Amino acid sequence: VLLTLPGILPTAEVARLRALAAAATWSDGRITAGHQSALEKRNLQLAQDAPAARAIADAVLAALAAYPAFTAAALPHRIVPPLVNRYDAGMDFGDHVDNAIRTPPGGPHLRTDVSATLFLSDPDTYEGGGLVIDGNGGAPVRLPAGDLILYPATTIHRVVPVTRGTRFAVFFWVQSLVRDQVRRTLLYDLDAAIVGLRSRGLAGEAEVISLTGLYHNLLRQWAEC
Ligand code: NI
Repeated sequence: VLLTLPGILPTAEVARLRALAAAATWSDGRITAGHQSALEKRNLQLAQDAPAARAIADAVLAALAAYPAFTAAALPHRIVPPLVNRYDAGMDFGDHVDNAIRTPPGGPHLRTDVSATLFLSDPDTYEGGGLVIDGNGGAPVRLPAGDLILYPATTIHRVVPVTRGTRFAVFFWVQSLVRDQVRRTLLYDLDAAIVGLRSRGLAGEAEVISLTGLYHNLLRQWAEC
């Protein structure tokens, strides 16, 4: 259900984006929160139209487009423009569910099926700040800088308090071609098996062609676009 995608951003690029973030002007994170989550949210965020926020969002979207496993896992129809947040010592974001619908400035309404966090800070530069997702056994997620976690937007989740240092991250939502988490997971697993067979030089085998057809025909049944 949770999926970690390592190395979305290479080390030099994540350092560049982190420097952009560190030099930017920050706002209260409640600017994009819903009524319930505003009560729980104690962090900072870049305004969406801030130059640093735009540069970071563009770099992240370009990296995602070049990362096939992201496409296979999220099956993105539309991506809400990525946002950038910051937790200094004492900041946290208590239990909440992400809003079902987001409306980017001037854009269409988007349904949030998949939630995503891309870590910009190395985990040894801050303490606390783990992302806890219900159903994940309570283990706080603190990934290396440049790594992404995808999780169902339907889950209750929280960011535990940062107790030292600063945690920068990019977060966004995906409206998936396939709304249902179980179906997305089935397609992802099938795709991974086909990719594995191809990598063993079996792309031309009749069974691989059949499985590839099965993948696309399931996607045809389930996709909304
Ligand atoms: Ni959230």
